[in-house]
Amino acid sequence: MEIADVRGDLSQVLFTPDEITGRLRELAGDVDRDYAGKDLVIVGVLNGAVMTVADLARDLKTHCEMHWMAISSYGDGVTSSGVLRILKDLTVDIEGRDVLVVEDIIDTGLTLSYLVQNLRGRQPASLEVLTAFRKPAAAKCDVDVKYVGFDIPNDFVVGYGLDYAGKYRNLNGLGVLDPAVYGG
Ligand code: PRP
Repeated sequence: MEIADVRGDLSQVLFTPDEITGRLRELAGDVDRDYAGKDLVIVGVLNGAVMTVADLARDLKTHCEMHWMAISSYGDGVTSSGVLRILKDLTVDIEGRDVLVVEDIIDTGLTLSYLVQNLRGRQPASLEVLTAFRKPAAAKCDVDVKYVGFDIPNDFVVGYGLDYAGKYRNLNGLGVLDPAVYGG
Protein backbone atom coordinates (compact mmCIF):
# COMPACT_ATOMS: atom_id res chain seq x y z
CA MET A 1 0.00 0.00 0.00
CA GLU A 2 1.36 3.40 -0.97
CA ILE A 3 0.84 6.80 0.61
CA ALA A 4 -1.30 7.88 -2.35
CA ASP A 5 -3.71 5.00 -1.60
CA VAL A 6 -4.62 6.42 1.84
CA ARG A 7 -3.56 10.07 1.50
CA GLY A 8 -7.06 11.21 2.53
CA ASP A 9 -6.72 9.40 5.90
CA LEU A 10 -3.44 11.10 6.75
CA SER A 11 -3.07 14.62 8.11
CA GLN A 12 0.66 14.53 7.41
CA VAL A 13 3.21 12.34 5.67
CA LEU A 14 6.24 11.96 7.91
CA PHE A 15 8.52 9.66 5.92
CA THR A 16 8.50 8.16 2.45
CA PRO A 17 9.45 4.50 1.97
CA ASP A 18 12.83 5.54 0.59
CA GLU A 19 13.57 7.70 3.61
CA ILE A 20 12.76 4.83 5.97
CA THR A 21 14.70 2.14 4.13
CA GLY A 22 17.61 4.53 3.59
CA ARG A 23 17.83 5.21 7.32
CA LEU A 24 17.58 1.50 8.11
CA ARG A 25 20.44 0.83 5.72
CA GLU A 26 22.54 3.30 7.70
CA LEU A 27 21.61 1.56 10.94
CA ALA A 28 22.45 -1.82 9.41
CA GLY A 29 25.92 -0.43 8.68
CA ASP A 30 26.25 0.60 12.34
CA VAL A 31 25.13 -2.86 13.47
CA ASP A 32 27.58 -4.57 11.08
CA ARG A 33 30.42 -2.46 12.46
CA ASP A 34 29.46 -3.07 16.11
CA TYR A 35 28.98 -6.83 15.73
CA ALA A 36 31.93 -7.56 13.44
CA GLY A 37 32.96 -11.19 13.86
CA LYS A 38 29.86 -12.09 15.85
CA ASP A 39 26.58 -13.81 15.05
CA LEU A 40 23.45 -11.97 16.05
CA VAL A 41 20.10 -13.04 17.43
CA ILE A 42 17.44 -10.59 16.32
CA VAL A 43 14.31 -10.59 18.47
CA GLY A 44 11.49 -8.91 16.58
CA VAL A 45 8.51 -7.71 18.57
CA LEU A 46 5.32 -8.74 16.81
CA ASN A 47 3.38 -7.55 15.03
CA GLY A 48 4.64 -4.10 14.20
CA ALA A 49 8.35 -4.89 13.86
CA VAL A 50 7.89 -7.26 10.92
CA MET A 51 8.71 -4.58 8.34
CA THR A 52 11.66 -3.21 10.29
CA VAL A 53 13.19 -6.66 10.85
CA ALA A 54 12.67 -7.65 7.22
CA ASP A 55 14.33 -4.53 5.81
CA LEU A 56 17.10 -4.34 8.42
CA ALA A 57 18.03 -8.02 8.15
CA ARG A 58 18.32 -7.85 4.37
CA ASP A 59 20.76 -4.96 4.69
CA LEU A 60 22.96 -6.71 7.25
CA LYS A 61 26.18 -8.41 6.23
CA THR A 62 26.31 -10.00 9.71
CA HIS A 63 24.77 -13.47 10.09
CA CYS A 64 21.58 -13.17 12.08
CA GLU A 65 18.93 -15.50 13.36
CA MET A 66 15.45 -13.99 13.40
CA HIS A 67 13.14 -14.83 16.28
CA TRP A 68 9.89 -13.31 17.47
CA MET A 69 8.03 -12.37 20.60
CA ALA A 70 4.57 -10.92 21.02
CA ILE A 71 3.74 -8.64 23.93
CA SER A 72 0.40 -7.03 24.52
CA SER A 73 0.42 -3.35 25.34
CA TYR A 74 -2.31 -1.76 23.29
CA GLY A 75 -5.87 -2.73 22.48
CA ASP A 76 -7.41 -1.91 19.15
CA GLY A 77 -7.71 1.77 19.99
CA VAL A 78 -5.42 4.72 20.29
CA THR A 79 -4.54 4.64 23.98
CA SER A 80 -2.46 2.15 25.94
CA SER A 81 -4.33 -0.51 27.87
CA GLY A 82 -1.50 -0.59 30.41
CA VAL A 83 -1.61 -4.39 30.30
CA LEU A 84 1.70 -6.09 29.55
CA ARG A 85 2.08 -9.81 29.07
CA ILE A 86 3.95 -12.20 26.83
CA LEU A 87 1.58 -13.62 24.23
CA LYS A 88 4.31 -15.49 22.35
CA ASP A 89 7.70 -16.31 23.81
CA LEU A 90 11.01 -17.11 22.12
CA THR A 91 11.60 -20.66 20.98
CA VAL A 92 15.39 -20.40 21.45
CA ASP A 93 17.72 -20.09 24.42
CA ILE A 94 19.53 -16.73 24.29
CA GLU A 95 21.97 -17.41 27.13
CA GLY A 96 25.44 -16.31 26.03
CA ARG A 97 24.14 -14.92 22.72
CA ASP A 98 24.38 -11.41 21.29
CA VAL A 99 20.78 -10.21 21.14
CA LEU A 100 19.33 -7.24 19.29
CA VAL A 101 15.70 -6.45 20.09
CA VAL A 102 14.03 -4.78 17.12
CA GLU A 103 10.94 -2.61 17.50
CA ASP A 104 8.91 -0.54 15.08
CA ILE A 105 8.17 2.17 17.65
CA ILE A 106 8.94 3.17 21.21
CA ASP A 107 6.03 5.18 22.54
CA THR A 108 5.81 5.19 26.35
CA GLY A 109 8.72 2.74 26.51
CA LEU A 110 6.75 0.43 28.82
CA THR A 111 6.75 -2.52 26.40
CA LEU A 112 10.48 -2.37 25.88
CA SER A 113 11.29 -1.79 29.51
CA TYR A 114 9.34 -4.92 30.41
CA LEU A 115 10.86 -6.91 27.58
CA VAL A 116 14.47 -5.87 28.22
CA GLN A 117 14.17 -6.72 31.90
CA ASN A 118 12.70 -10.11 31.01
CA LEU A 119 15.37 -10.91 28.41
CA ARG A 120 18.25 -9.78 30.64
CA GLY A 121 17.15 -12.44 33.10
CA ARG A 122 17.98 -15.05 30.45
CA GLN A 123 21.66 -13.97 30.59
CA PRO A 124 22.51 -13.08 26.99
CA ALA A 125 26.14 -12.10 26.30
CA SER A 126 24.82 -8.70 25.20
CA LEU A 127 21.43 -7.09 24.71
CA GLU A 128 20.80 -3.96 22.67
CA VAL A 129 17.73 -2.32 21.17
CA LEU A 130 17.01 -0.95 17.71
CA THR A 131 13.83 0.91 16.84
CA ALA A 132 12.66 2.44 13.58
CA PHE A 133 10.74 5.22 15.34
CA ARG A 134 10.66 6.77 18.81
CA LYS A 135 8.40 9.37 20.41
CA PRO A 136 10.54 11.19 22.99
CA ALA A 137 7.59 13.28 24.23
CA ALA A 138 5.58 10.15 25.13
CA ALA A 139 8.29 8.49 27.24
CA LYS A 140 7.15 7.25 30.63
CA CYS A 141 10.32 5.38 31.48
CA ASP A 142 13.98 5.37 30.52
CA VAL A 143 15.03 2.65 28.11
CA ASP A 144 18.55 2.42 26.78
CA VAL A 145 18.18 2.33 22.99
CA LYS A 146 21.37 2.00 20.96
CA TYR A 147 19.96 2.42 17.45
CA VAL A 148 17.13 4.86 16.60
CA GLY A 149 15.83 5.41 13.07
CA PHE A 150 13.84 8.59 13.63
CA ASP A 151 12.55 10.57 16.60
CA ILE A 152 9.01 11.65 15.77
CA PRO A 153 6.32 13.91 17.29
CA ASN A 154 3.79 12.52 19.76
CA ASP A 155 1.06 12.02 17.14
CA PHE A 156 -0.89 8.89 16.23
CA VAL A 157 1.16 7.49 13.39
CA VAL A 158 0.44 4.60 11.03
CA GLY A 159 2.31 2.70 8.37
CA TYR A 160 5.49 0.66 8.11
CA GLY A 161 4.12 -1.93 10.54
CA LEU A 162 2.14 0.48 12.73
CA ASP A 163 -1.59 -0.01 12.69
CA TYR A 164 -4.85 1.52 13.67
CA ALA A 165 -7.35 -1.25 14.45
CA GLY A 166 -5.30 -3.64 12.34
CA LYS A 167 -5.17 -1.43 9.28
CA TYR A 168 -2.39 0.61 7.61
CA ARG A 169 0.38 -1.82 8.66
CA ASN A 170 1.13 -2.53 5.03
CA LEU A 171 1.48 1.15 4.16
CA ASN A 172 5.06 1.53 2.96
CA GLY A 173 5.65 5.02 4.42
CA LEU A 174 4.81 6.63 7.77
CA GLY A 175 2.05 9.19 8.27
CA VAL A 176 0.00 10.89 10.97
CA LEU A 177 -3.53 9.47 11.04
CA ASP A 178 -6.16 12.16 10.65
CA PRO A 179 -8.10 12.35 13.96
CA ALA A 180 -11.33 12.22 11.93
CA VAL A 181 -10.51 8.58 11.12
CA TYR A 182 -10.45 7.49 14.77
CA GLY A 183 -12.88 10.01 16.10
CA GLY A 184 -10.22 11.99 17.93
C1 PRP B 1 3.30 -1.22 19.68
C2 PRP B 1 4.74 -1.20 19.20
C3 PRP B 1 5.50 -1.45 20.44
C4 PRP B 1 4.66 -0.82 21.52
C5 PRP B 1 5.23 0.50 21.89
O1 PRP B 1 2.90 -2.55 19.72
O2 PRP B 1 4.96 -2.19 18.22
O3 PRP B 1 5.69 -2.83 20.69
O4 PRP B 1 3.35 -0.66 20.98
O5 PRP B 1 4.46 1.15 22.85
P1 PRP B 1 5.01 1.54 24.27
O6 PRP B 1 6.39 2.13 24.11
O7 PRP B 1 4.01 2.58 24.74
O8 PRP B 1 5.00 0.35 25.16
P2 PRP B 1 1.38 -2.98 19.95
O9 PRP B 1 1.23 -3.47 21.35
O10 PRP B 1 0.48 -1.90 19.46
O11 PRP B 1 1.23 -4.27 19.08
P3 PRP B 1 1.39 -4.43 17.50
O12 PRP B 1 2.86 -4.27 17.20
O13 PRP B 1 0.90 -5.80 17.26
O14 PRP B 1 0.55 -3.36 16.85
